[in-house]
Amino acid sequence: MEVEDLFGHRISYLRVSVTDRCNERCRYCMPEEEQAWFAKEDTLSYDEMLRIVRVGASLGIKKIRVTGGEPLTRPDVDEFCANLAQIPGIEDIGISTNGTLLAKTDEGITMAERLVKAGVRTANISLDSLDREVYQRTTGRDLLPRVIEGVDAAIAAGFQAIKLNCVLMKGQTEREMPALIQFARDKNALLRFIELMPVSTQEVLSDDTFLPIATARKLVEQTTGPLTPLPEFRTNGPAAYHLIPDTGQKIGFIGAMTNLHFCESCDKLRLTCDGKLRPCLGSFLEFDLRSVLRGGCDDAELAAFFQNVVARKPKEHDFRHNYQPNRRMIAIGG
Ligand code: 5AD
Ligand code: SF4
Repeated sequence: MEVEDLFGHRISYLRVSVTDRCNERCRYCMPEEEQAWFAKEDTLSYDEMLRIVRVGASLGIKKIRVTGGEPLTRPDVDEFCANLAQIPGIEDIGISTNGTLLAKTDEGITMAERLVKAGVRTANISLDSLDREVYQRTTGRDLLPRVIEGVDAAIAAGFQAIKLNCVLMKGQTEREMPALIQFARDKNALLRFIELMPVSTQEVLSDDTFLPIATARKLVEQTTGPLTPLPEFRTNGPAAYHLIPDTGQKIGFIGAMTNLHFCESCDKLRLTCDGKLRPCLGSFLEFDLRSVLRGGCDDAELAAFFQNVVARKPKEHDFRHNYQPNRRMIAIGG
């Protein structure tokens, strides 16, 4: 079975935020003083999440991305992934992480290895800078060396694809680009530049900080020479990829704010860690699945709820008119 929204988007992708907690404090995500985590009882248990994914899979969900907060701060996330992989219909599991815990070793096995063994196919790792001081300023933590170990652990573990995500910040990212491009090439990872979005508790997005992807592309070209667009090359999301002809390296640009076609092929829903189903990252709309679930509903009712949310999926996000200063990215799930 497949579910389609009113605009023909076929929903096949569910992002599951397993926690709102994080061991970093990125400027554009959660400021230092922000500590109001969800209470444990308000966070869905893994069993509750698995049940929701099972129902989603019966309606055509095929791909899962495990996110947070930082998903690796929640205990046993590898076991959760292994259970996700057992669900009939789930074909692809990825994880989005800040990378700080990927190299963490327990009984001689790294977290990255545990995830690959659990069936996680791709790792998206946030990496805004390769300069330790800039990294610390951006993420609030001096953890760059651990992230680099994390990237190496991910490579050693054998993920099928590793993506490095850099959030574009005017006045900062310009200088980081050459090193990031070189690093991604050396590590055989796919580098993507992401436009800053208004999804933080703080007003980070302003003319002083916003760097549009069109400018980012020109800046990249100063290092690489002219890029060739690759309209046919698609991964799971709305990134537009370009090729560096000299080296064959691909670079992605994710322009939620300035790419007017951004939402056209959206096939996503989001499950927040407190059990809200969100049809779109960039809209206030969210539906309280947790109370339905805990109210003792059966799977048919859950499926109906799911379909209802899909039917309410907006044509496109509303970021350009509607900033969301009070809804954290971590609570929404990247
Ligand atoms: N704008 C753009 N990207 C963001 N992320 C977190 N907050 C924002 C924001 N305000 C990114 C992280 C990570 C991914 C999950 O989302 O850097 O790569
Ligand atoms: Fe943590 Fe990711 Fe948010 Fe940074 S962007 S604070 S790493 S959840």
